[in-house]
Amino acid sequence: MSKQRVLSGVQPTGNLHLGNYLGAIRNWVEAQSEYENFFCVVDLHAITAPHNPATLAADTYTIAALYLACGIDLQYSNIFVQSHIPAHSELTWLLNCITPLNWLEDMIQFKEKRVRQGKDVNVGLLDYPVLMASDILLYDADKVPVGEDQKQHLELTRDIVIRINHQFGSEEHPVLKMPEPLIRKEGARVMSLTDGTKKMSKSDPTEMSRINLLDPPDLIQKKIKRCKTDPVKGLEFDNPERPECHNLLTLYTILSGKTKADVAVECQDMGWGQFKPLLTETAIAALKPIQEKYQAVMDDQGYLESVLRDGRQNAESIANATLARVKKALGYSVPV
Ligand code: TRP
Repeated sequence: MSKQRVLSGVQPTGNLHLGNYLGAIRNWVEAQSEYENFFCVVDLHAITAPHNPATLAADTYTIAALYLACGIDLQYSNIFVQSHIPAHSELTWLLNCITPLNWLEDMIQFKEKRVRQGKDVNVGLLDYPVLMASDILLYDADKVPVGEDQKQHLELTRDIVIRINHQFGSEEHPVLKMPEPLIRKEGARVMSLTDGTKKMSKSDPTEMSRINLLDPPDLIQKKIKRCKTDPVKGLEFDNPERPECHNLLTLYTILSGKTKADVAVECQDMGWGQFKPLLTETAIAALKPIQEKYQAVMDDQGYLESVLRDGRQNAESIANATLARVKKALGYSVPV
């Protein structure tokens, strides 16, 4: 029996932080041998907000190299760049024309970004979820690992599948495959270093709120030194009045590989002055192998290019077949 397919993607905006890694990529790596995986750098999504053309290509390579550095294994997984495969754009157009406008206007993320981006709201921002649906549906993905913030987009993808299959397919011959969310057992929710009630996020304006995977040791030290804490001595998990305390202990637990119970005992009598250096040291040590692997990949541009070329070839043949299937269902003539 062939393996089920998994697809996911990351935008090449800035580099990845601990929240991206612990909450997403680490889980892809853990599960990758069970699936046939497609991990995409979604550079077409990246221009739905104002972007810098001088850094787009380099940022794209950075994310691809970080995939490898975090342990994505080419034996199980394909790594490719969204814009290298024209079918993503083309399927988006076709799906645009079967997606009701109000479905997109009602998306929570669109409503939030529309406020945040102010006058820089382009049509692409509204259309973002349809492009994401194309990413997923082109590969007949069975499973999509999604965090809380992307759940609604996957729901929209599923609604598009229902609609296209109803309008242009039949029970026996669906046009597109219905994807399912891949829910993991215990999700690591990594919160901001400056506000323990907010998720660690690329879009947070303060750089001090997140630890990036490529931050050098002295910067990690500085960020942890300045992070928000509380005046209570003795550290504990799960006290709703101490969200920062819970977050920092959780970070320490995951990064050290210890159990929650062990950490609870280890830290119960500690003050911040004792805990912060410990967390700093642990974070630096945990990121070191990723940073070394990243550097090795970046030093061998030819290798990285060959990875993306192989990924593109594998992805493209599947994507083109799906696109042809959709065009046929919609009644398009085939060029002769
Ligand atoms: N929108 C996703 C995010 O910001 C990125 C993304 C684009 C994606 N296409 C995808 C995720 C397809 C999963 C599947 O996180």
